[in-house]
Amino acid sequence: MTDPNPLASLKTLEEEALGAISGATDAGEVEAIRIRFLGRKDGRISALLKGLGGLSAEERPVIGQEANRVKGVVQAALDAKEGELAGPAASQEYDLTLPARGVWRGAAHPISQAMDEIWGIFRDLGFTRARGPEADTEWYNFVALNTPLDHPAADEQDTLYLQDSVLLRSHTSPVQVRTMQTHEPPIRIIAPGWVYRRDTYDATHTPAFMQIEGLVVDEGISFVDFKATLAEFARRYWGPGTQVRFRPSFFPFTEPSAEVDVKRVVTRADGTREETDWLEIMGAGMVDPAVLENAGYDSERYTGFAFGMGPARIAMLKYGVRDLRTFFENDIRFLSQFAR
Ligand code: DAH
Repeated sequence: MTDPNPLASLKTLEEEALGAISGATDAGEVEAIRIRFLGRKDGRISALLKGLGGLSAEERPVIGQEANRVKGVVQAALDAKEGELAGPAASQEYDLTLPARGVWRGAAHPISQAMDEIWGIFRDLGFTRARGPEADTEWYNFVALNTPLDHPAADEQDTLYLQDSVLLRSHTSPVQVRTMQTHEPPIRIIAPGWVYRRDTYDATHTPAFMQIEGLVVDEGISFVDFKATLAEFARRYWGPGTQVRFRPSFFPFTEPSAEVDVKRVVTRADGTREETDWLEIMGAGMVDPAVLENAGYDSERYTGFAFGMGPARIAMLKYGVRDLRTFFENDIRFLSQFAR
């Protein structure tokens, strides 16, 4: 027996189903209604469609579409009822139209970023990495570096001693000596790491800080290699227009010694270009022959240059940070500015 008016029957089924849903009082009842109307095999909508038999090619899509619409309406009403019965909180808790919250991925600390960039430049220039212990002896930290123990730097006022002649290294320069003791020339190394000093924590000092040491030793290394390498580094780090100045200075482990300054050209917000003041970025010099000898090298045959810089200071200059302590306080509002 073929239904003479399937569209009307579908409409009746829709009304019946919605009536039943609105009267449902628990989840079991809702589920029973779902099976009764939408069940695939014996559900009333399926049964009605099966009973239709030979529909014409014009009727088929019209009835099919209407059946789908009714299924959709009944399904939505069932879902809404289910949500309502589960409690008001459950049905209103989520606004699925809101944009998703951004995922916090974290980022490298600005000092780590500066270290990575500095190391990356020297790596491209052919340097490798070296390391040494943070707890070291007076001999490596001072004596081998041509610094007598009555030098002010070796004083307990400035250096953190652990016991007798063992201390927390006050610079990364002892890695120079350790590297030369264990490796033959040519040496071309970068040694980054923590160093410690008896300093008061203030805007420009922290008792623990990072340094990056560099050392190049081989036959025939000259002052030209020294100046050219560091000028090249400065231009790669600070930009091609950067001017570099070597100012005479003194370190016990280098002769001659220099402080390296850079002057940059910066573009201001209004587009005008302006030169910065000279900024000191590192200490450096030709390795003192006494240091080469202390490390077991023949200072008649080998020469070299060395340098040491503080990545925190370099990051401060780069980003215009005025207080070193902000790098250590881990305020996420400060640090997230450097995320990239
Ligand atoms: N060790 C020095 C310091 O901590 C920095 C330094 C200066 C390192 C000159 C060097 C150098 O290798 O040649 O202040």
